[in-house]
Amino acid sequence: MVETGVTNNFVPGLEGIVAAQTRLSSVDGQAGELIIAGFPVEELAGQATFEETVYLLWHDSLPTAPQLAEFRAALAARREVPATTMDLLRAAASQKVAVIDALRMAAGTLTLAEPDELESQALALTAAFPTMVAAYWRLLNGQEPLAPRPDLGHAANYLAMLFGQTPSAEQARGLETYLNTVVDHGMNASTFTARVIISTQSDLVSAAVGALGALKGPLHGGAPGPALDMVFEIGDAANAETYLRQKLAQGERLMGFGHRVYKVRDPRAEVLSAAAARMFQGNGHQALYQLSRQVEQTAVALLAEYKPGRNLQTNVEFYTALLLHGLGLTPDLFTPTFAIGRVAGWLAHCFEQQQLNRLIRPQSVYVGSKDRRWIPLEQRV
Ligand code: COA
Repeated sequence: MVETGVTNNFVPGLEGIVAAQTRLSSVDGQAGELIIAGFPVEELAGQATFEETVYLLWHDSLPTAPQLAEFRAALAARREVPATTMDLLRAAASQKVAVIDALRMAAGTLTLAEPDELESQALALTAAFPTMVAAYWRLLNGQEPLAPRPDLGHAANYLAMLFGQTPSAEQARGLETYLNTVVDHGMNASTFTARVIISTQSDLVSAAVGALGALKGPLHGGAPGPALDMVFEIGDAANAETYLRQKLAQGERLMGFGHRVYKVRDPRAEVLSAAAARMFQGNGHQALYQLSRQVEQTAVALLAEYKPGRNLQTNVEFYTALLLHGLGLTPDLFTPTFAIGRVAGWLAHCFEQQQLNRLIRPQSVYVGSKDRRWIPLEQRV
């Protein structure tokens, strides 16, 4: 096939290329600003329930009280997953499949259950993510899955399904703030993947499964685990400077610092740090929070010294790890929990893409040879 209009202005990683117009979120890396459907993240994340945020993204307005009640009930009613999904999770647990991979496999089975109605499918996907993660995590740890709790909100139900206890209001608020903070973030790799898939007129389940595959990679879903490991290794604020200097002198990267887009402090770090501070007030993690703040301050100062002009600041991963750890989540749950928040953003992008759809089909520049001649197998050396 002849490609028309091919030019040579290839941009590796599509950096700086505009691939969509969106009303869902705006990321300004120079100003350190994240807007979610019109709200600065600092305004939205700590106040909205996750259900309100999802409604806002899908409908472009905050719900009224009756709309919210209906939306919450519709999500809660879809928390049970099909028996086939549970069978798959049991089989995966027997093979010790990683939690994020089990989530991807299980999400793929949801196509068996839902009728062909878009918002209903989106509700089913969003509602099923916490159930699948919690059920799988328990199976992996030799425990039976727990039934969803329709009386609880989305975030609180996830914690209850993991640990078998009703979380405190502070814990539920902490998780809700996290889910709101990560629900959407411009044209990131998994969101782009979801839009590419839906642009072929494929279905929402396929888009979410593909997006999960993109999210899993360490360059995207990130590795909040290592940021926390670093704080644990430092152990005491008095060790921070020596430890961090040694890492930097060896040319190592400090986990939880630096960002491709943000050149000032990631606004999500600010929101999550405040959420962690509130959640840890008066409980056993207070000392860990204080240590993290001190590690952060020392790290930012040393990064300025070792990498002048790079503006390396705290990123979202640093406080994600602390917050999720404080909720009792193990590191293997960090990326799946990110997906529990982000799936609602993927689906919002799918709706947006569908409204003015044009097949996403970029071009490539051929850099191979053009004059090869066929050599029969027996003559090849
Ligand atoms: N610690 C130490 N040095 C760092 C650093 C970090 N966390 N992040 C970037 N740098 C340095 C690089 O070594 C490079 O230095 P050099 O020019 O002397 O070689 C310079 O800063 C620019 O790095 P670059 O890789 O071009 O920046 P990027 O925009 O591609 O990187 C990240 C973005 C997030 C990949 C990078 O900052 C990083 O690896 N951070 C640590 C991992 C992490 O926290 N990931 C979660 C991201 S949300």
